[in-house]
Amino acid sequence: MTAITEQRDWSTGRRDWSAGLARRTHSLGGGEITAILALAGATDVITFSGGFPDPATFPAGLLAGIASRLITEDAGVALQYSATEGLAGVRDYVSGRLGSLEGRPPGGGELMITSGGIDCMELLAKSFVDPGDVVVVEAPTYLGAIMAFRGYEADVRGVPVDGAGLRVEVLAGLLAGGLRPKILYTIPDFQNPTGLSMSAERRAELVALARRYGFLIAEDVAYRELGFGSAPPPSLWSLAPDVVLQAGTFSKIFFPGVRLGWAAGPDEIIATLVVAKQNSDQCSGALGQRMLEEFGRSGHLDRQIVKSRALYARRAALTSAALAEHMPEGTTWTAPEGGFYIWLTAPGGVDTVALSAAARDKKVAYVPGRPFYPGDDGLAQIRLAYSRVADDLIDEGVRRIGEVLRTALGEK
Ligand SMILES: Cc1ncc(COP(=O)(O)O)c(C=O)c1O
Repeated sequence: MTAITEQRDWSTGRRDWSAGLARRTHSLGGGEITAILALAGATDVITFSGGFPDPATFPAGLLAGIASRLITEDAGVALQYSATEGLAGVRDYVSGRLGSLEGRPPGGGELMITSGGIDCMELLAKSFVDPGDVVVVEAPTYLGAIMAFRGYEADVRGVPVDGAGLRVEVLAGLLAGGLRPKILYTIPDFQNPTGLSMSAERRAELVALARRYGFLIAEDVAYRELGFGSAPPPSLWSLAPDVVLQAGTFSKIFFPGVRLGWAAGPDEIIATLVVAKQNSDQCSGALGQRMLEEFGRSGHLDRQIVKSRALYARRAALTSAALAEHMPEGTTWTAPEGGFYIWLTAPGGVDTVALSAAARDKKVAYVPGRPFYPGDDGLAQIRLAYSRVADDLIDEGVRRIGEVLRTALGEK
């Protein structure tokens, strides 16, 4: 074994820490998320890159009043550690909300508060994934989830999606051929990155497969409440609470600065995740939990969600119209019915990773498709997040991306 301290560049005196990195970090990636977050405050770039909610949806005035009142009148709770599974009142509020949204409230031990959606995936991977365990994901999928499972050395396999979501018949074929996943991770509603949803028929087939082959479905409902039209089909968790762990987040419907979400699932699994959380952040912040509860119980959250849906529906429509106007011949893209994203496929083997630099020169940013796959696909694809681009910049931003693609195609 090489001691970390021996890896020193004597000309500069700097130590090379990389030699000591744990094996589990080797295939992690993560540069894309760092790049997205680095652009969070950029003002001179039209950025379609991060899945950020629009700050216009942040209820700053109301929150200032709530926070001030909590700090003055409820400091003993709001400024204190909370129980690891979340404050009792907040769990009661979230449980009631799930009951009315999903037709079934979780039982006492079936719900915990998490620090956002990614916390649930991290706790799940930490508790259930041994090196080499198979985790099936949609291809493409949310890259943070791929990273969470890879972080515990899962063997992450992709199953393709189409306009009706995960291709469950492909999964069924793999299972019949001997594949034995421990976990299947899916985003059934307005998926990241495609914006597409899983049909009701496939949901029923998927839970039947989970029961038959004994795997856990991790259902990520990050965008479920942000549909533009009719309600999505029943959640997987409401269909099969015995084999589904639902991961929810308040990041997209309340605000991400609060880092809050929930996990609902079989009580044995929730109890295990609660233990795992004790040595990560121990508990989600009590001040944020109480703010959510106050905001939610007074009806503000549900009213805000109605406004957010209209805002994102308008942005999606503007982006689609701009794509129709500016994309080169042969480019295709999805038509989302909710959420934050449009997924674009460029023609002729365009390399969207290589083109990101040209896009940045034109002061426009997107995320190339590649990191959304566990394998090597996605080279000609792009994820466009329209959620935070001002209405009057959407057309210009899309025009610039079109120009980058046209130039690349012309040079071929
Ligand atoms: C599908 C999905 N799940 C989870 C998350 C992470 O949510 P949070 O910020 O609450 O951790 C995101 C964020 O982009 C997402 O797109």
